[in-house]
Amino acid sequence: MRSKVTVVGAGNVGATLGQRVAERDYADVVLVDVIPDMPQGKALDILEAGPVLGYDSLVIGTNGYEETADSDIVVITSGIARKPGMSRDDLIRTNQGIVTQVTREIVRRSPNTILICVTNPLDAMVQLAYSVSGLPKQRVLGMAGVLDTARFRTFIAQALGVSVRDVQAFVLGGHGDTMVPLSRLSSVAGVPLPKLLSAEKLAEIEQRTANGGAEIVNLLKQGSAYYAPSASVLQMIDAILLDKRMIMPCSVYLEGEYGISGLFVGVPAKLGARGVEEIIQFELLPEERAALQRSADTVKELVGVMGI
Ligand code: NAI
Ligand code: 2OP
Repeated sequence: MRSKVTVVGAGNVGATLGQRVAERDYADVVLVDVIPDMPQGKALDILEAGPVLGYDSLVIGTNGYEETADSDIVVITSGIARKPGMSRDDLIRTNQGIVTQVTREIVRRSPNTILICVTNPLDAMVQLAYSVSGLPKQRVLGMAGVLDTARFRTFIAQALGVSVRDVQAFVLGGHGDTMVPLSRLSSVAGVPLPKLLSAEKLAEIEQRTANGGAEIVNLLKQGSAYYAPSASVLQMIDAILLDKRMIMPCSVYLEGEYGISGLFVGVPAKLGARGVEEIIQFELLPEERAALQRSADTVKELVGVMGI
């Protein structure tokens, strides 16, 4: 039997992800949205691309939750996105209500699912989904680090004129202005990045990475990024459904790792069939550890705003 991937929120990120998953041909897809007929229309459109591209994935759109029952993975992208001048944190009140309601509906019908949250402010929303769902910590995680790392890798590859495939990079921390791009632990074809680019250039690239979401928002004028975000979620789904045990930065629940407890923050995690198989710990320099702690403090503040 095929796996089932549900995507709640059939907007820019959700619908693009639905298309990407269908094209993988390893899972059926359910798109859920509150807008009448919209997820049904997008699902039918994606389904009708199957004969051209050669996939047999079933794609269903719905305004309810019955069709989501027994999903292997559920991705929550429902909520509002930011507009120019807004931070991700400005979204919290509206998205708290949406993520709470959606998580309840999902878990009632898919108690064994793995939940990937995308809605912003990301780390706070994952914490909320974890708290509302009652799922074990291995089965609740957030997408941000793969996207932030993809941006970091893009800028490094551009600066050096090399393939993005040769670039390995890590970003730690919350998905916000305080994220911690780590040049010291990044490399190109095995060569440490600081040996290849000047400190000034690295600082510039790190800053552009941290500002990556806002750069797209300012260009689009309405809405935020969705091609790279949906590709990033797809990589996490690949790792889980294909049990690849890939290591990638994800927002996961920390219980003492990196000196942080009781909080979802972005760190490297090994993803496989059970969800978060392992949290990978690196030795950090004191200033890196302090930057990660500052980022975690910002997430904690937001979680406090939600009163959970
Ligand atoms: P969008 O506005 O295109 O789509 C959101 C969809 O959610 C809309 O179609 C809306 O009708 C739906 N929705 C609202 N309330 C709902 C509910 N109760 N149940 C089901 N559906 C509901 O927004 P977009 O661009 O797809 O972004 C979605 C979220 O993902 C935003 O919060 C955005 O900030 C976040 N995001 C996070 C990223 C990350 O790296 N973690 C990257 C990109 C976006
Ligand atoms: C991004 O980084 C909006 O969080 C989203 O593009």
